[in-house]
Formats: sequence, C-alpha cells, structure tokens
Amino acid sequence: MEDYRLGLRFCVVAFAIGSCLFMISYILLQEDTSYVKNVQNMIDEFSKEWSIMPRKGYDHEILQKSSLEPEILSMFKFDPVDPEANMNASQLITSKGLPCQEHYPQTTDGYILGMQRIPQPTKNRLPVLLVHGLLSSSDCFLTNLINESLAYILYNKGYDVWLGNVRGNRYSTNHVSLSPDEYKFWQWSFDEMGKYDIPAMVYYITNITGHKKVNYIGHSQGNTCFLIAAMTQGDSFASKIEAFIALAPAGLVGHMTSPLRYLKYVANDINFLYRLFGDGDFLPHTGLLVFIAKLICPHEEKYCENVLFLIGGTDFTNTNISRVPVYSAHNPAGTSTRNMIHWAQMAGTKDGNMKYFDYGHWYLNLWHYGQTHPPLYDFKKFKIPAYVFCGGKDTLVVPADCNTLVNSLSSIAAYDFIPDYTHLDFIYALNSPPVLYSKVLHILRNH
Ligand SMILES: *[C@@H]1O[C@H](CO)[C@@H](O)[C@H](O)[C@H]1NC(C)=O
Ligand SMILES: *[C@@H]1O[C@H](CO)[C@@H](O)[C@H](O)[C@H]1NC(C)=O
Ligand SMILES: *[C@@H]1O[C@H](CO)[C@@H](O)[C@H](O)[C@H]1NC(C)=O
Ligand SMILES: *[C@@H]1O[C@H](CO)[C@@H](O)[C@H](O)[C@H]1NC(C)=O
Repeated sequence: MEDYRLGLRFCVVAFAIGSCLFMISYILLQEDTSYVKNVQNMIDEFSKEWSIMPRKGYDHEILQKSSLEPEILSMFKFDPVDPEANMNASQLITSKGLPCQEHYPQTTDGYILGMQRIPQPTKNRLPVLLVHGLLSSSDCFLTNLINESLAYILYNKGYDVWLGNVRGNRYSTNHVSLSPDEYKFWQWSFDEMGKYDIPAMVYYITNITGHKKVNYIGHSQGNTCFLIAAMTQGDSFASKIEAFIALAPAGLVGHMTSPLRYLKYVANDINFLYRLFGDGDFLPHTGLLVFIAKLICPHEEKYCENVLFLIGGTDFTNTNISRVPVYSAHNPAGTSTRNMIHWAQMAGTKDGNMKYFDYGHWYLNLWHYGQTHPPLYDFKKFKIPAYVFCGGKDTLVVPADCNTLVNSLSSIAAYDFIPDYTHLDFIYALNSPPVLYSKVLHILRNH
C-alpha cells in the first residue's frame, strides 16, 4: 500500500513537472512550432506533386498510372508532349544523330561523376568542358535544337565536347562507399564541387585525350566551382586550363533581385533549416524551394510554376516559350540541402566577399576551419585568364555584382555585357548562336 501511494505520488509529481515543462516549452516555442507546422503542411501539400517530378523529369507513364487527384495530374499535362522532355543527356545527343560516350571520373573524396562526351571522328580535337549551373545538369547545354544548343554547335565546329555533372545531380549520385540514401552522402556544398569535382573532371579529360589543356565553359554555379578550383588547387590545376569562359558567373550574388533572394531570410538558422528540409538530398524529396515559392506566391504568383523561374526570372523575350516544358522537365536536377543553404548565405553577403560554407555555430566553424567564422576565398589567387559574359536582365547575377567580381579578379582577359540577357538566356536564348556563341567560338579559335 505504501509502495502504491509512493508510486502514485511519484506519478503525480512527474506528471505535474512534465506538464509544466511542456507548457513552458510550448510557450517558448509556440511561434516556432506553429511556423514549422504551417510550413510542414505546405510541404505535405506539395510533396505528392514534387516527389514524382524532378530528378527524371516528368514521367508520363508513371503519372498516368499513379493515384493522383485529377486536378494534380492536370498540372503535369504538356500538350503536345515533346519527346525530348523525357530524354536523358545521352539520348538527347544520339537523337540528333551524334555519337555519345558516357564517362565516370572519380573524385579524390570518392564521388563518381557522370560525364557525357560527344567525340569527334578525328583524333586530337581540342577538348571543351561544359559545366552547368545550380540545380541543373549537362542537359542544359543539349535541350535546344541542333543549331541552337552550345554543345552541338561546339561539336559541329570540330571540338571534342565534354559535358560535366557535379555531385548530387541526376547523373552523379554514386560514391565508392556511400549511398545517396545516407546522410553523409549529401554533406557538401559548392566548396567541395570546386575542390574535388572540377579538378577530377579536368584531369580525367587530359588523361583520356592526351591533351595537356582543356577549355572550360561554365554557366552560373559552374563558374563558382571553377573559381574555387583555381583558388584552392594552385598551378597544377591552372596549368591544365587553356581558356576559361564564364557565362553569368555566380561569384557574388549579394544584390540579386531574383526570387531566390528570399532564401537569405532563412539562411541564419541552420538547425531550423535542416529540421525542416532534411539534411541530405535537397530535391526531389524536400521542399525548400516549394517553401520559398509559397512564401512569395501570394505576391508574385507567376514564379510558382517552376523552380526554373525562381532562379531565372520570368523575362521570356529571348525564349522559345513552347519549349519551356522541355526545360522544366530537365530542371531541377538535384543537389544537397547544404548547397542550397550555402547559396542562401551567399545571397545575404553584400560585402563583395565569397565565403566558405558557414556551419552556423562558432564551435563548428572552429572545428572545420580552425577559426570561428568561415574563411574568405582569396580572389588574388585566381590567375587564369577569364572571359566573362554577364547579362543586363540577369536577376541572379546582377550587373553590379558581376562588376564587383570582374574588378576583384586580376586576370580578366575580356568582359562582355549583353544588355537584354537574363540568367537563363546564356543557355536557352533563341538568339544565343549569333549573339553569344559566335563570341565564344571566336575566343576558342583565337586563344
Ligand atoms: C540514358 O538512358 C539510357 C537508357 O535507359 C541508358 O542506357 C543511358 O546510360 C542513360 N544515360 C545517362 C547519361 O544517364
Ligand atoms: C535553327 O533551325 C530552325 C529550323 O530548323 C530555325 O527555325 C531556327 O531559326 C534556327 N536557329 C538559328 C539560331 O539559326
Ligand atoms: C589516367 O589513365 C590511366 C590509364 O587509362 C589510369 O590508370 C589512371 O588512373 C588515370 N588517372 C586519372 C587521374 O584519371
Ligand atoms: C521551339 O520549341 C518547339 C517545341 O519544342 C520546337 O518544336 C521548335 O522547333 C522550337 N523553335 C525553335 C526556333 O527553336
């Protein structure tokens, strides 16, 4: 009996203490939890749609067989469906009657990258490496007509065309020991792409082709990685580069006007972000961009349709509108949550500095970097001649940020400003063959 009473009293006291703690934490966290709950609802709402969309593009067969509500299904209808929407990089290339090889260089930290090559029938042609931007893949250089896409144009001018893919996108989800289902697989941002992926691809090409040097053309983040490779890998890397052509280089983005800028409001609370969006594969399973889209949709509804417009804006002056479904089906192509957070941090940095990933706590930065704040990249270490192209209507790499970057690099060989170009016009614009690619070819010819 005594025991029973004691037990009961213990329970009552424990319950009371528990309730108090719960109430206190509830009051303290109320805003936080309701926020999380709302966002979680939003993500749930969209997850059906998103989990079948991104990595492989819209798969119409799977969609038709799925148990999705008709309203949701109707959001996926493309009329008529362009077969290129469902082709991967190799299929896009071979559908043009061109040869294609698949290559798999390995990084020194174990990632296996998927590359495609459009090899020339004659040996010893100069290699050109093309590297895509954020949330994209090699597809972005292959999704216009054969006389309009940069990769095909370079091939037809006699170059040995190599298409790169950085870790974590649809073609680069293999690792010697990690699986993409593991948390550890996704712990990197563009810091690591620059330090490991770009050198791995460049060294691989020189090895296979026997050429000592490679021409490099990047779009957006493809240039961020290149800058980092050059700043961290020294002369051994620099000596392998013939010409560096940067299309809309995202080195500094502190003044962006693109809807992606909303990322910076959530950039500071890293724990919150990881809790909310998962700490691994950013897309397709998690919804940071959906969150952003929801955040801004009431104000800027037009951006909600696809992640592409979140990044690139909605100026379609130079775009083949009827081809947008093809572009949409190929983007987003996947990355890590940490990479998106690093971009969010970049969006909040207005001081003209490019910084390593911020772990969000002084002790974590101390652990990783030996200092409490993330180190800055040293633009003075960049010595490769650079040909930079920026666009006047680019909302992600705005002209002011592009100017600051160009002024920070001492080895600028040429800087060209295309007044009416948006961020995505550099890869998709209908007039890019005469307006931009002719200049790119001129640089390659005369370098
Ligand atoms: C594209 O798909 C085909 C057919 O499934 C496959 O053989 C090929 O390896 C794929 N290419 C790439 C780059 O994923
Ligand atoms: C490419 O070819 C198509 C027809 O095949 C034509 O309509 C288009 O204008 C061409 N584009 C360029 C940039 O020449
Ligand atoms: C270069 O190629 C050789 C033989 O094909 C291979 O054994 C070596 O691992 C390659 N090196 C790199 C860095 O890819
Ligand atoms: C525009 O896109 C449509 C749909 O993919 C395509 O059939 C057409 O050839 C494209 N036009 C040009 C000039 O690229």
